[in-house]
Amino acid sequence: MIPKEKVEEIREKSDIVAIISEYLPIKKRGKNYLALCPFHSEKTASFTVSQDKQLFHCFGCGEGGNVFAFIMKMEKMDFPEAVGFLAEKIGIEVEKSKGNAALKTYKDHLYEITEMACKFFRANLESNRGESARAYVSTRKISPETEGKFRLGFAEDDFGALFKHLLSRGAKVEDIEAVGLILPRKEKTGYYDRFRGRLMFPICDVRGRVIGFSGRALKDEPPKYLNSPDSVIFSKGDNLFGLNLGKDEIKKRKYSILVEGNVDVLSAHEAGFQNTVAPLGTAFTLNQAKLLKRFADIVVLAFDSDAAGFAASERAYEVLNEAELMVRILDLGKYKDPDEFIKAEGPKAFEDKLKVSMPAMEFKVHRIISRYNIKEIEPRSRAAYEVAGLLAKEKDRIVQKEYLKLAAKLIGTDEELLTAEMRKRSFYKRSYGAPLKAITKRPPDKVAEAEKSLIYLALTSEEAYGLIKEGIELDELSDPNYREIFNKLETIPAIHLEEVLGSEDQKRIVRESLLSESPAADISLMVKDCINVVKGFNIKKQIDRVRQDINEQEKSGNFETVKKLNSEYKSLSEILRTVAR
Ligand code: UTP
Ligand code: MN
Repeated sequence: MIPKEKVEEIREKSDIVAIISEYLPIKKRGKNYLALCPFHSEKTASFTVSQDKQLFHCFGCGEGGNVFAFIMKMEKMDFPEAVGFLAEKIGIEVEKSKGNAALKTYKDHLYEITEMACKFFRANLESNRGESARAYVSTRKISPETEGKFRLGFAEDDFGALFKHLLSRGAKVEDIEAVGLILPRKEKTGYYDRFRGRLMFPICDVRGRVIGFSGRALKDEPPKYLNSPDSVIFSKGDNLFGLNLGKDEIKKRKYSILVEGNVDVLSAHEAGFQNTVAPLGTAFTLNQAKLLKRFADIVVLAFDSDAAGFAASERAYEVLNEAELMVRILDLGKYKDPDEFIKAEGPKAFEDKLKVSMPAMEFKVHRIISRYNIKEIEPRSRAAYEVAGLLAKEKDRIVQKEYLKLAAKLIGTDEELLTAEMRKRSFYKRSYGAPLKAITKRPPDKVAEAEKSLIYLALTSEEAYGLIKEGIELDELSDPNYREIFNKLETIPAIHLEEVLGSEDQKRIVRESLLSESPAADISLMVKDCINVVKGFNIKKQIDRVRQDINEQEKSGNFETVKKLNSEYKSLSEILRTVAR
């Protein structure tokens, strides 16, 4: 744990503008700085940084916070890591003060163990004991350079070699177990090594720390690949094999290549395509897509060309689409996977395949058509129906139109007919997929707008806060987030509000207000206008209720009550008139 005062000191000395400008080009606009948001894709800058408030906020995606939040998000670090990272940057000592392991975080210990294991496996591979594994590496045609770059290793066929080694180096049993390198024996008498008789591929996070392993069987014994289980430092769905070595190249080439297997990654890197990565033997996840998106917007999918590969590719495509990445498909032809392709045809041929890779949609159109004999009428119409169904899913109208044109030509059918068929499907799809939204009593936009302005005013002006407190009751605000913010504002200054609010929505509202440019208007007049809108809405709601009551009471013949309600109705209408003026 880093002491609170230390954290404060680090925060004060790290200027958010200086830190962020190391990552993105930011431009001064008025009081604030603007940039294209690194956390979602946008064409106009809505990522705002304020020097005096030491906050950042994206008005597009809602991401934001202080300098620590930025580093956490950008570097994928947790809070202590981000604090340590900044401390180092500005030259403040945090860990070294006592110079011992006590100050290291739990995770640091685990990284040390995986690193030690990596070195141990590597030494094994290079020693006499590694003979069989070295022979296997050479049959796979992995060069010594690639083997070294990926830090391949060898786990001997021994139940305790690694365990013994780690213990002798001072590692604790529970930590070794926590990273999945050992398993408890069934008889509960000690532990044994998980990885035995396998070629070891260390799995690294983006920063290159070893977080787990993938072990390839040397013989045909299942499982072909054995992976570390998820742990405190390793989450399969959040990492990609090869990304630590490939990220710079992905940035440089502006696209990544996604393959299925570890060996595919090695081959591709060796052939000069260092922008290649693989999911870790699991279905490709949205987090993995987002991770890729940090480096480039285009992904070329080069999964295995077998049934399993096609299915996996299809799923990966959906996920990449959801993360708004542009997807192209590389067709390996008769070869099983990129490794086989590159070994047989060489880097130049792979480059050519990359060049003719197709946007995923186009690829799919071609694939559908190839399954039908479109020289005949009926199969041709089947193909047309299927393509229409596919294109109905395309959200971009312009893109859709282009594909309609292309598909009609490829199939040899009429574009208008195909369009009509597609429309039918879009219509059914929509009315089937989207349930009718329940019509609830939401405040009209004007009221929501007024409440938002009130919050903005209260957060940015003491004067306004006083006026609002006088002019309106908390429960007159319809948005519970606003009520909570107002409530806290009573005791906590606006600038520190974010730290005490529990909900992300509330934090976002506060940042948005604090980073908005202030309108040079008459504050008391603005407050009054907004209050009147909100009050007007509440009075209208009351009037509605009274009117309903009147109807009911009339029906049941309670004319005394009706009379009372009528006068209530009148006075409410009177108040509404003064407010609405
Ligand atoms: P493949 O079976 O296609 O692997 O599985 P590969 O890389 O082509 O295998 P070889 O070594 O060249 O024969 C693709 C990926 O799926 C995961 C691994 O990450 C593998 O690289 N996998 C596969 C497992 O996790 N476990 C398995 O048993 C098999
Ligand atoms: Mn494969």
